[in-house]
Amino acid sequence: MSRVRLGFIGVGGIATGRHIPTFRTLDEVEITAVQDIDRERAVKVAEELGIPGVYTAIEDMYPHVDAVVICTPNKFHAPISIDAMNHGKHVLCEKPMALTAEECRRMIEAEQRNGVKLHIAYHYRFMKEAIASKKIIERGIIGAPIVVRVKGLRRRKVPGWGVFTNQELQGGGALIDYGCHLLDLAMYLMGDVKPVEVSSSTYNHLSRTNTVNEWGHFNRDTFEVEDHVSAFIRFDNGASMLFETSWAANIPEDENHISISGVDAGLDVFDMKVNQADEDLMTTMRIDYIKVDEPYSRLQAQDFISAVKNGTPLRVKSHEAMEVSKIIEAIYKSSQEQRSVRL
Ligand SMILES: NC(=O)c1ccc[n+]([C@@H]2O[C@H](COP(=O)([O-])OP(=O)(O)OC[C@H]3O[C@@H](n4cnc5c(N)ncnc54)[C@H](O)[C@@H]3O)[C@@H](O)[C@H]2O)c1
Repeated sequence: MSRVRLGFIGVGGIATGRHIPTFRTLDEVEITAVQDIDRERAVKVAEELGIPGVYTAIEDMYPHVDAVVICTPNKFHAPISIDAMNHGKHVLCEKPMALTAEECRRMIEAEQRNGVKLHIAYHYRFMKEAIASKKIIERGIIGAPIVVRVKGLRRRKVPGWGVFTNQELQGGGALIDYGCHLLDLAMYLMGDVKPVEVSSSTYNHLSRTNTVNEWGHFNRDTFEVEDHVSAFIRFDNGASMLFETSWAANIPEDENHISISGVDAGLDVFDMKVNQADEDLMTTMRIDYIKVDEPYSRLQAQDFISAVKNGTPLRVKSHEAMEVSKIIEAIYKSSQEQRSVRL
């Protein structure tokens, strides 16, 4: 394969704002096609960006692409990915992987059966803090992670565009849209762990009573998803996670926070620090410089294209993304049934 012929399915905000501009910078890629149920939008994007093929039916696009990037609402991630893989196409699918763990399982089955690559767009793993944290953990500096604290909190920033407050199309709100990134990154840093028990509460009171919002307007009467989540997650190796996410929190400022207590030292991922205690000294080492040459969006695109062209392993493995989806599903179930859920 000389250049990877790439098609986009769903060309709204994330496709036009991140993936298309990024993939266009890679020499090994030729963007040949776009498809969207909103044909007018697909035509406009193709015209503006000089993409030759616009398709109404996805099947008509397949002969013109080697791989597809799926940027539709969450409900369509699994069926469209499976169909594309069954047509022999490699897939980069936006997060979350799917609405349920069972859908994820079927996606992995299609990936394996068809011998193609399936990348789930958990891009936090390509951020410089994530790359450096993984190195610190793999070098054994903090020892095995035992307690992990995760906060993904936004102050009054419900996405006011698209279908982000529609339960049927998205499968949930702050957790499945935003918190999933921090959950995925935290689990990636913890290593090979499997969740075994989840206890949680989810809420949507704030957005239904108060629509003060920095990211556009949403309708409180059709706000169907959660805006706050708190959870406690146990893992098979005895490690545990305290998890909180919100996109409508009344807090002084947004917080992206992961801190990991290992058996030997602690690590703060954003605003990176390693916290140690040795004999009679306590030290905090601040990481001042992280050498990463490319922005995360380009690293992610390169990771996918290299896997497609050269068979290199993907940084986000589909079975890992499925573990994230298992936890998301268990968080919703635990809250709904007001009890802990065993996995
Ligand atoms: N990685 C990230 O940080 C990030 C950020 C934003 C969005 N996303 C994800 O990307 C996806 C899309 O989000 P967005 O912000 O671009 O939304 P959007 O509403 O701006 O765009 C979605 C597009 O999909 C099209 N569409 C809807 N159903 C379709 C179907 N069945 N087939 C083909 N096209 C269809 C819509 O017409 C629209 O053009 C979601 O899954 C979201 O979770 C990820």
